Amino acid sequence: MFKQIFALIPIIAAVLANGKTILLSNDDGWAALNIRAAYRELTNAGYNVILSAPARQRSGWSGKFQIPDSKTLKEAGEFNYPPKGSPSWGHESDNDKIWYFDGTPGAAVAFGLEYVIPNYFNDTKVDLVVNGPNEGTNLGNGMYTISGTIGATYNAVYRNYPGIAISGSNGNNSFFKDFENDQNDHLLAANIYAKKVVQFVDQLFKGAKDDSILPITTGLNINFPSVGYDDESCEDPDWVFTKFSGEHSTTSDLKYNKESGLFESSSIGSEALYTCVFGNCSLEGESQLLADKNCKTSVSAFSIDYSASKDQEETIHGALNGLF
Ligand SMILES: *[C@@H]1O[C@H](CO)[C@@H](O)[C@H](O)[C@H]1NC(C)=O
Ligand SMILES: *[C@@H]1O[C@H](CO)[C@@H](O)[C@H](O)[C@H]1NC(C)=O
Ligand SMILES: *[C@@H]1O[C@H](CO)[C@@H](O)[C@H](O)[C@H]1NC(C)=O
Repeated sequence: MFKQIFALIPIIAAVLANGKTILLSNDDGWAALNIRAAYRELTNAGYNVILSAPARQRSGWSGKFQIPDSKTLKEAGEFNYPPKGSPSWGHESDNDKIWYFDGTPGAAVAFGLEYVIPNYFNDTKVDLVVNGPNEGTNLGNGMYTISGTIGATYNAVYRNYPGIAISGSNGNNSFFKDFENDQNDHLLAANIYAKKVVQFVDQLFKGAKDDSILPITTGLNINFPSVGYDDESCEDPDWVFTKFSGEHSTTSDLKYNKESGLFESSSIGSEALYTCVFGNCSLEGESQLLADKNCKTSVSAFSIDYSASKDQEETIHGALNGLF
């Protein structure tokens, strides 16, 4: 009797999620705790989730497109999963919906769309590409071009897919197998984020006016605050619609250390990163929202049309007038 009821749960969930297909990727690698928790919760919610993510840790690889030049791994996957010498792409032995690919995040998304789905899933239509949750935040214009999570996302948007980049404040690079007994731990950040991802994706599909859930050229950047064991006062953060620009935005910098004779990485803010040009400049900046540590999750929309604004174009065009 109970067995029969439990057997119905995935069927009911699938009806609720309306058979939507999600391609899931990241930059921390397919064996990262956060992405596996998201895979589990989205699948339990009834989505048809296909995970296609880098074999190795590819944080900071931005939108770079790199594919394997060998049929076997020259370096082990993250957490030695899979070990060096394994095929350069493959899936979990007991699950052909969970794939790794020895490439950058953007290439792992393309591998899912161009190889896995046509060859293993009858070219089923992908409704949404989700990347993350990343281990560590990706905030502001200064991180947009650097982050592998966002790089994977704009690679999806370039291909007409609605894409969302999701990042968590839990920076620890964790192997999912180390946490297999913690799937019901409601204070584990990966579990909290995974449930919030389902809530977000549910609303995105529910709120969509037509087949295309985000306008063409656009994607979303989401950043979760510290939760659970990292901040026990925050278990269910609220959503806030934010902008990319604004104070506390930073980008990478370096400092020369005279003693070591080497450079050290650091970060830097600037007026260019704080200035709002596009969108609703009254919105709070995502970097500011997370800096406030008020148990809030930022949701910012971006566009891959990188042109300057009309006013900016006119100023530049005027200065170059003699050339045209
Ligand atoms: C594969 O997709 C085609 C076109 O959508 C469909 O006609 C066919 O029934 C599908 N095959 C399977 C095995 O699902
Ligand atoms: C960080 O990740 C490693 C690898 O999975 C794990 O062994 C360790 O317990 C984690 N540490 C914390 C504080 O979560
Ligand atoms: C811009 O954002 C502010 C702050 O959230 C909001 O009050 C206002 O309605 C927004 N304006 C538009 C045109 O969306």
